[in-house]
Amino acid sequence: MIIAVDGPAASGKGTIARALARHYRLPHLDTGLLYRAVAATVIDLELDPEQEADAVAACAFDEQLLGDERLKDDAIGKAASIVSAHPLVRSALLQRQRRFAQQPDGAVLDGRDIGTVIAPDADAKLFVKATPTIRAQRRHAELRARGSAVSLDKVLADIRARDERDSSRSMAPLRMADDAALLDTSFLSIDAAVQRAIALVEART
Ligand code: C5P
Repeated sequence: MIIAVDGPAASGKGTIARALARHYRLPHLDTGLLYRAVAATVIDLELDPEQEADAVAACAFDEQLLGDERLKDDAIGKAASIVSAHPLVRSALLQRQRRFAQQPDGAVLDGRDIGTVIAPDADAKLFVKATPTIRAQRRHAELRARGSAVSLDKVLADIRARDERDSSRSMAPLRMADDAALLDTSFLSIDAAVQRAIALVEART
C-alpha cells in the first residue's frame, strides 16, 4: 500500500505521515529532507541557491546530512524551497523517491508532489492543509522551543512566501491531486487529525 501525504509547510503532514507509517507498519520518507539536504549543501559550498543548485543536484549530497538537526532550520527550509524549483534538482531526486515508494509492502511518503508526480497511482492520497495563521503559530512554537527568538509576524510572512513559491513554480507545483482526500487540521488536535487521516485511508483502500 502506497500512501501519499502532501500539503504546505507546517500543515501537519509530517506528523500525520509518521503516524500513518506506524499504524500500517510501513516505511516512511519525508521528501522535504532531500530538498533540505541539497539546500544545506548549496549553502555549505557557498553557491547561489537561485543560480547554482543544479550543480549540487548533479553531484548529490552527503547521505549523513539527512540525519542532521540543522536541516530543520527555517533558513534551510527557505533555501530548500528555492532550490526545489530547479527542474534538474527535482529530476535528480525523482528516482530515489519512486524507488522508496516501490518497496514490497509499500510506503508512506510526504511532501508537495507525492500524489501528483512521485506516486500518481498511490492507493491513498491525502492533502493536508491548515490556515496560514495557524501554521505560523505552530511553526513559531516549534522554533521558540528550539531557542529561536523569531517573531510570529516574521514566521507568518515566511510561510506565505513559501506557499507562494511552492505553488507558483512551473515544475511539480504544490497542488492537491484530483483524487486526493482533503484533511484540514486547523482546528484538530494531533490525535484527532491522525484518527481522521486513518479513517480517510481506510475509506480509500
Ligand atoms: O516539507 P519541508 O518544509 O521540509 O520542505 C522544504 C521545501 O522543499 C518545501 O518548501 C518545498 O519547496 C520543497 N519540497 C518539494 N517537494 C517535496 C517536498 C519538499 O518541492 N516533495
